Parts: sequence; structure tokens; C-alpha cells
Amino acid sequence: MPSDTVHLLLCPVCRQALSFGAGELRTLKCTAGHSFDAARQGYFNFLVGKGTAFEADSADMVAARSDFLSHGHYDGLALAIADTAAPALAATNAAVLDAGTGTGHYLRAILDRFPASAIGLDISKFALRRAARLNPDAINIVCDVWQPLPLADGAVDVVTVVFAPRNPAEFARVLRPGGRLIVVTPRPGHLAEVAGTTGMLGLEPAKEERLAASMDGAFIELATRELDLDLSLPAVDVVNLALMGPAGHHLDRSALPDLLASLPSRTNVSARFRITAFEPRRPSVPGS
Ligand SMILES: C[S@@+](CC[C@H](N)C(=O)[O-])C[C@H]1O[C@@H](n2cnc3c(N)ncnc32)[C@H](O)[C@@H]1O
Ligand SMILES: [Zn+2]
Repeated sequence: MPSDTVHLLLCPVCRQALSFGAGELRTLKCTAGHSFDAARQGYFNFLVGKGTAFEADSADMVAARSDFLSHGHYDGLALAIADTAAPALAATNAAVLDAGTGTGHYLRAILDRFPASAIGLDISKFALRRAARLNPDAINIVCDVWQPLPLADGAVDVVTVVFAPRNPAEFARVLRPGGRLIVVTPRPGHLAEVAGTTGMLGLEPAKEERLAASMDGAFIELATRELDLDLSLPAVDVVNLALMGPAGHHLDRSALPDLLASLPSRTNVSARFRITAFEPRRPSVPGS
């Protein structure tokens, strides 16, 4: 329930504790008097000041992601993420943060297994409109994960990051000691069969090596699992794939009907994921 979760949050302006206004769940207030009203769809917007220069996913990119995921093609991944999170969420009062939650699809899979306190963060309000609908049991907040996160130190047991940007120092700060960071990244060859057809951007070959290296200062790698899903995609979902990824920012929308018409009724596609679990490094004790 959001009311059990609010004590994990900090005001994005002054970093004081937040709470809901008396008798309602639609306004968050800090002790210094800053206040944040929920949007009509139920999410909160914590982008303060001039916001961010980041190009957030647009409404049509988010709609494509939601449509694709609702057809179940990545359900195997959702199950695997929930399995990986399970040991750290078994306790009562456990809490999870999904950073770059998008439409909230993977957070839903976790909450269907564990009634944890939950926070979803994303920079796209279009994504959070859907996430707030799918996960009313979470607090969904528009914010930039490159900024200090609006969560208290040691607030959560699990942080999940599924194809989304990583801020290792902040993830380590908001995890309790012994908590788990679960990162999902694509492996080389992911969706290779359609990359050419749809104009999707290729994977950068050095990306994998960079994951472990970029986490190194703040986290220890505990376990890695490779997951391959052999998909048979209808044409509409090949188009959804093109639109929902980073290439969706640049794709010529007027070419999509022709692309759809040119595709076979089914295309075999391999999805190749890596799921890595990390534990925060213990801070070193001065003088030891
Ligand atoms: C590829 S999508 C993945 C979404 C979701 N995790 C999923 O797998 O369905 C990447 C998400 O990261 C979000 N994102 C990108 N940069 C961000 C930032 N700086 N802060 C917060 N969210 C960000 C995007 O808006 C988008 O929803
Ligand atoms: Zn404040």
C-alpha cells in the first residue's frame, strides 16, 4: 500500500521526510512545507527546477512497449526477475525500487509474488501514466535517476533496473546492507533477426564489459543468469519492437504502415537477456 511506503521517500527539494496529507493519498508533503500533488492518473512529479534535458520516451513509444509486453512475449523474463528478487523480498515489510520502471510491467510481476512496499521511478510521464494504472499499490514518481534519488538511505531490499539507466552510487545508498541490485541487459545477438528490418540501433559490443566495470566501485557481482527466449512475433509486434526501443526516438512514423505491410505474418526472433544480481559493497571502516 502506498501509505506503508511513503516513509521511504525524501523530498526532492530539501531531502526531509515526506508524508501524505491528512486522510488522503494524493498529496505528499515534507516537514519544510514543500508539497506534491498526484497527477490525475495517480503518479507524482518530482522534477523540480528546470527539470532535465533528457529526451524521455514519447507517448507512442510507451504505447508500443505496453502493447508488446501485454502480448506475453517477455513473460519468461518477468518470471526470472521475480525469481531473482525472491530471496531478498521474503521478509514481511520488504521494499522494492524499480528504477526506469517504464509501464511498470516487471514491477507488477514482482508484486504479484510478494506484497512488498514498492516505488517506481521513470523520467517519462507517459510511461508513469500506465505504471500508475498497472501498479496502484506502488508509489510512482517522475524523476531523473541521474539525480539524487528521492529515497532514504537503506530504504529498500531490492532495486531492479530493466533496460534502464544505472546510477550505482545512488542505488547503493538506497539499498539496505545485504540488499540486492538486479540489472537486466541485452546480450549480443538480442533481437538480431529484426534489427536490420526495423532500423533498430545495434548493440554496442563493449556494453557488456561496461556493466560489471561500471558497478565495481559500489557493488559486488553475486550471480549472473543468461536467459534466451525464442519468439514467434506477429508483424504488429515487430513494429512495436522498433518503436519501443531507443530507435523509436528517431524512427520515421510515416514509414511504419509500409513496414507493417512488408513483414511476414510471423517472424522468429531470439531475445537474449542477462540478469545480474549485485550486493552493495560494505563501506570500509576508517582505520581498519
Ligand atoms: C527501455 S525502457 C525500459 C522500461 C521498463 N524497465 C521495461 O523494461 O519495460 C527505459 C526506461 O528508462 C526510462 N529512463 C531513461 N532515462 C531515464 C532517467 N534519466 N531517469 C529515469 N528514467 C529514465 C525511460 O523513460 C524508459 O521508460
Ligand atoms: Zn521539502
